[in-house]
Amino acid sequence: MLTKAHNMDQAAGLRRLTRPRPVKVIAVTSGKGGVGKTNVSVNLSVALAQSGRDVLLMDADLGLANVDVLLGLRARHNLADVVDGSRSLEEIIISGPAGLKVIPASSGVQGMAELNALEHAGLIRAFSELSHHIDILVIDTAAGIADNVTTFTRAAQEVVVVVCDEPTSITDAYALIKVLNKDHGVYRFRVVCNMVQGVQEGRELFGKILAVTDRYLEVQLDLLGVVPFDEYLRKAVQKQRAVVEAYPRSKAALALKSMSQKVDKWPVQGNPGGHVEFFVERLIQASQEMEATL
Ligand SMILES: Nc1ncnc2c1ncn2[C@@H]1O[C@H](COP(=O)(O)OP(=O)(O)O)[C@@H](O)[C@H]1O
Ligand SMILES: [Mg+2]
Repeated sequence: MLTKAHNMDQAAGLRRLTRPRPVKVIAVTSGKGGVGKTNVSVNLSVALAQSGRDVLLMDADLGLANVDVLLGLRARHNLADVVDGSRSLEEIIISGPAGLKVIPASSGVQGMAELNALEHAGLIRAFSELSHHIDILVIDTAAGIADNVTTFTRAAQEVVVVVCDEPTSITDAYALIKVLNKDHGVYRFRVVCNMVQGVQEGRELFGKILAVTDRYLEVQLDLLGVVPFDEYLRKAVQKQRAVVEAYPRSKAALALKSMSQKVDKWPVQGNPGGHVEFFVERLIQASQEMEATL
C-alpha cells in the first residue's frame, strides 16, 4: 500500500514538474519606428521583474538591436546559435536588472521560416527545457508590418501598440492594427500613448485612434497607459539603464510602473496554447505560413 501511495505521489510530482507552466506572452509593436517600443518593453519588463515576476524579454528587432544597448548588457551569442545547436538557450540568455532575463536579438529569428524539421523540434525543445521559470515573455518587435513583425505579434497573446502624437505615428498605427486584424486575426490591442505632454493629451491621442478603428474595423482597443515625454527617460537611455531603475520617481517611471501593474493583472491563458513552447510552435508556424504565401 505504502509503495502504491508513494508511486502515486511520485507520479503526481513528476506531472507537476513536467507540465508546461502558463506564460503571458506580450508583443510590443508600433507602426512607426522611434516611438518608444524598446523603452516601453524594457521598462515594463524591469518593473515586472522588480515586483517579483520572472520575466524573459526577447529582442526581436533585428535592424536596431537595442535591448542590450539600453540595458548596458553585452550579448555574445544569440538564437541563431541555439538553432544551429552550438549553444543552449540558457547559454545565450543574459541577465539584466532585478533578475530580468534577456534573449538578445538575432538573425536566427528571421530564419525561422527556413527551419528544417529537426531545427524546428530542437528550438521548441530548447524553450520547453528552459530551467528558468517564466511568468511573462515580453517581445520587443521591429516597427511596421513586415513579416517578422506580424509573425511575433500574431503568436503572442497580448499585443501592445505604442503610438505618439504625430500624424505619421497615428496613421501607421492604424495601418498596423488593420493588417494584424484583417490578415492575422488579432482583435484586441492595448495602446500606449508615449511622449505626450500629459494624461489629457494621451487620452485625446487614444481617442483619435479609437475613432478611426471604431469606424472601419471590428477590433477592441484598450488604453494601457500614457507615458509623458520625460527628460529623465533620455538621461536613463544615456546611462544605458531602465528609467524605472535609474530614476524611479520620474514621471515616466511612475507611468511605466503603473502600466506594469495593469499588465500583471491580465489573466494568463491556462489552456495548452498558453505555454512558451506553444508560443514558439505558433511562431514557427506563422513564419512558415507567411513564407508559403509569398
Ligand atoms: N517618454 C519618453 N520621453 C522622452 N524621450 C523618449 C520617451 N520615449 C522614448 N523616448 C526617446 O525616443 C527614442 C526612441 O525610443 P525607442 O524606445 O528606441 O523607440 P523604438 O524602439 O520604437 O524605435 C529614445 O532614444 C528615447 O530617448
Ligand atoms: Mg526599438
